[in-house]
Amino acid sequence: MAYNKVENAANRTFERTMTYDKYTDPKVLDQEMDLIFSKSWQLVGHVSQVEKAGAFFTADVAGEPLIIIRGTDEVLRAFYNVCPHRATKLEKSENGKKKILQCMYHGWTFKTDGKLNKAPNFQGEDAACVQDACLRSVRMEVLESLIFVNLDDNATPLIDSYGDFFDRLSKFPFISELKRTHRKTRVIKANWKAYIDNYLECDHCHIAHPTFVDALDMNDYQIITCENYSVQGTIVKADKQYGEVNLNEAEMQGGSFFWLWPNLMLTIYPGPGNMASIEMIPIDHETSLAVYTYYFREDNLEALNQDEKDLMAFAEQVRAEDIDLVELEQIGFRSRAFNKGHYASSEQAIVQFHEMVLEALNE
Ligand code: FES
Ligand SMILES: [Fe+2]
Repeated sequence: MAYNKVENAANRTFERTMTYDKYTDPKVLDQEMDLIFSKSWQLVGHVSQVEKAGAFFTADVAGEPLIIIRGTDEVLRAFYNVCPHRATKLEKSENGKKKILQCMYHGWTFKTDGKLNKAPNFQGEDAACVQDACLRSVRMEVLESLIFVNLDDNATPLIDSYGDFFDRLSKFPFISELKRTHRKTRVIKANWKAYIDNYLECDHCHIAHPTFVDALDMNDYQIITCENYSVQGTIVKADKQYGEVNLNEAEMQGGSFFWLWPNLMLTIYPGPGNMASIEMIPIDHETSLAVYTYYFREDNLEALNQDEKDLMAFAEQVRAEDIDLVELEQIGFRSRAFNKGHYASSEQAIVQFHEMVLEALNE
């Protein structure tokens, strides 16, 4: 699926939002799991987590247990974290370093390239019928040190899935130096899409985020929809545009807030080299897990300098303000008072997101 704003805008005029049952109906989330989360690129980690041979971490994507492991041959791979013998979840730890993975049930062991090492309960003649049993691979791609997986074996390659996004990202001079510094999670009492909606407009910023509007030049705030992603932020110099030659300089000075279909947000603030990712993962139709990861040049949280610490505190405050809002919104989604909302013309990035949701759900 590729979103092209000009094309889609001609086909459909959005004045009213999609109906609120999309935020409250468990059946909608079931469909989204199949049609959105099982078919899109999902950020699961950063290469700094798996630098050494045998280093691994486990992840959960659309309810599927996965393991990402650097082989003893130095190759990074992703597998379903499921034993081919009888389906037991193979590795229970969140991360670690192993040369051999062992299933707890009947003791089958696997090499770090996913091949079967030993199946103790299949000896002699039995051994022949399981010799090809190996862990099932998952599509995985790494760009700018970010590790993405996609459960859809036929998915468009990551590099082709988000227009010129990775080009833009690579233009930040510090991007290749960033390490994964800190990760935290928070359970939010709202549908995953409510948080994305909130992220995709800044009309609420003046009311909800006084420190944010104080820090950034809001007169030049822009929201631009692109292929399967959008970017918003300020442009300090009036003669510069996103996507033009001096993109990098403009972005550096103003701060950039990216959204990537369907549930990934990447923010870069002015100041020291920094990035934060937010993945909004549905727990159920009215509860979501927000996974916040901070990336700085320093991977030790304690060793961050004051500017970096201030930046994290600033981002945390803005987020807390947003979470309050989306939790209140979820209460209203459940109400019989209204079944749809209104879009302002400044909310085109939400329109893009909603069009993509509806298209994915075949509506
Ligand atoms: S289920 Fe894994 S060894 Fe039997
Ligand atoms: Fe906000």
